[in-house]
Amino acid sequence: MEKLQSRKSGPLKGVARIPGDKSISHRAIMLGALTVGETMVSGLLEGEDVMATADAMRKMGAKIDRGNDGLWRIYGVGIGGLQQPQSVLDMGNSGTSTRLLMGLVAGHNITAEFTGDASLTKRPMKRVTAPLQLMGATFETSDGDRLPLKMSGAKEPKAIEYKLPVASAQVKSAILLAGLNTPGKTTVIESTPTRDHTENMLRHFGLEVESAKRADGSEAISVIGGGQLQPCAVDVPGDPSSAAFPAVAAIINENSQLQLSRVGISERRNGIYTTLIEMGADIKFENVRTEAGEKVANIIVKGSKLKGVKVPADRVPSMIDEFPALAMAAACANGTTHMTGLEELRVKESDRLLMIYNGLKECGVNVEMGESSLTIYGNGKPPKGGALIKTALDHRIAMSFLVLGTATDEPITIDDAAPIKTSFPNFVKLMDELGAKISAA
Ligand code: S3P
Repeated sequence: MEKLQSRKSGPLKGVARIPGDKSISHRAIMLGALTVGETMVSGLLEGEDVMATADAMRKMGAKIDRGNDGLWRIYGVGIGGLQQPQSVLDMGNSGTSTRLLMGLVAGHNITAEFTGDASLTKRPMKRVTAPLQLMGATFETSDGDRLPLKMSGAKEPKAIEYKLPVASAQVKSAILLAGLNTPGKTTVIESTPTRDHTENMLRHFGLEVESAKRADGSEAISVIGGGQLQPCAVDVPGDPSSAAFPAVAAIINENSQLQLSRVGISERRNGIYTTLIEMGADIKFENVRTEAGEKVANIIVKGSKLKGVKVPADRVPSMIDEFPALAMAAACANGTTHMTGLEELRVKESDRLLMIYNGLKECGVNVEMGESSLTIYGNGKPPKGGALIKTALDHRIAMSFLVLGTATDEPITIDDAAPIKTSFPNFVKLMDELGAKISAA
């Protein structure tokens, strides 16, 4: 395993272009592969998770190439045209690839086998197999509805109306993608808004997606099957989840000033920034604009004195991936930060609640964990550090503790840096250019 260590770095300064949004990159490849013609993608995240999606779509018939110009060109097979893959689809560490692709396969009369790494094979799949079964797909899963699994798409897919039992954009997306090749109207109802990149991108590819507020405050999102997607150009914005790491590093290091350029700031993704601002962080959004249906901005962030806050549970979906980064900021804040509604953190790439709790304790932070809550008692300065952190195949745990180590008195070491490549392949280089001291341990 590849150990990395970060140590006290002083102010971070500079301008950084954050790599492409992971969620949007997956969807650009999948939808491009469902058009007939050429879709051109710029700014695609070239991380392992997205490459797993590209490999799987190639196995199902799409042609996907990266030009020397850095542009990705996708030649699709059209909705309904996916071919049966001739070998197992190995999704590596990527839950998004797995769940969304299961939706695509469910709407096609083909059989596919899915597997993944030691993290992904532990993650729950029933949340997608249950609705896709209602649409006519069949599954042979491993114990506990997990990977490896074999599935056959529906011979005659049935449209459903499905109320999400968990706030999950992955589940919503899997059902909508299955609905593309299903006669009639497929509807997903969500009571808490989750990221809407699938809806936005379907519209960008020319498909009508209905989205209606209901009297009880929930939202019904529908697609009509049997339509067509038009090839187009997609320019992927920077990932707000990735941007959170240099942002927190800047905040916890006095006198830092960074510009993080062209980052997506969709209100369904920006909970981390709202929370950091409430904690007293100096964050500004400049040149706010909408590109290809997504709101983007340059984020200006400065070293700041933070105070503890209560994070409202209804904000969780808009910052579901950012609790590891937030916890590092909270560990440096003055006062108590209390987070609730975190049950989904238990089933991410790792049991993130436990990994944050264990890691912070090792670093000398006073922290309490409940079944679905976390309370961090900060004393207004970075904790001692000096720990070896277990990352458990979780890229965000790895990056978060490296960020904390840029401010602690003693260096922080992570036991395995390899997972960082799934979402932020140039993390160490980018952080180094901004002044963070991260090196092999
Ligand atoms: C994602 C949705 C979220 C998020 C994941 C990416 C997506 O998962 O944690 O990193 O691209 O749809 P859930 O929908 O399972 O919460």
